[in-house]
Amino acid sequence: MVKKNTCIFISGKGSNLKNLIKKSREYNFPINIKLVICNNKEAEGVMYAKKNSIPFLIINTNSRSFENKIIYNLKKHNIYLICLAGYMKIMSKRFLFEFRKKVINIHPSLLPKYKGLNTFGRILKSNEIKSGCTVHYVNEKLDSGKIITQKSFFISKQDNEYDLRIKTQKLEYLAYPEAIIKIFKNINT
Ligand code: GRF
Repeated sequence: MVKKNTCIFISGKGSNLKNLIKKSREYNFPINIKLVICNNKEAEGVMYAKKNSIPFLIINTNSRSFENKIIYNLKKHNIYLICLAGYMKIMSKRFLFEFRKKVINIHPSLLPKYKGLNTFGRILKSNEIKSGCTVHYVNEKLDSGKIITQKSFFISKQDNEYDLRIKTQKLEYLAYPEAIIKIFKNINT
């Protein structure tokens, strides 16, 4: 199997990055992580790139040319798939047009419900009985692209935001790899 060159975008803790690095080491997992891009120089997650000798790039999204810098590096590493994993910045229409390859994201709710930030607080306020996570294609609208995979759990009465986060992330570590396998299922070697 020829693994697809992949770039993971992060802004924070990077636990999904850590999980995807681990999965990518499996013989049959369809991606190779060639680059990590982070828009926060304080992000804990960068350590996983360092520890695993994966090239990483810290970008300043206040700089005008930051998207050009990203595109340049994606081309340099021949990137075929971008996985957003806690990346706190919306992809511009121009960027998506220029990249042209696949861009996917993981979101901590059962989309189309609870797009955007502060999902857990809003979910609890609405007395939902179920929650979960969604992996979806990225388009220029926030958390709105075609859904690839969802996983859900039942919320218990005692759950607070912290509990929801833990339960959701546990499912994320299953959902993201599953979604990646799914999108490459029909592409041979
Ligand atoms: C995840 O919960 C993901 O759903 C959201 O941001 C969080 C990132 O967590 N988009 P981590 O940095 O991978 O630990």
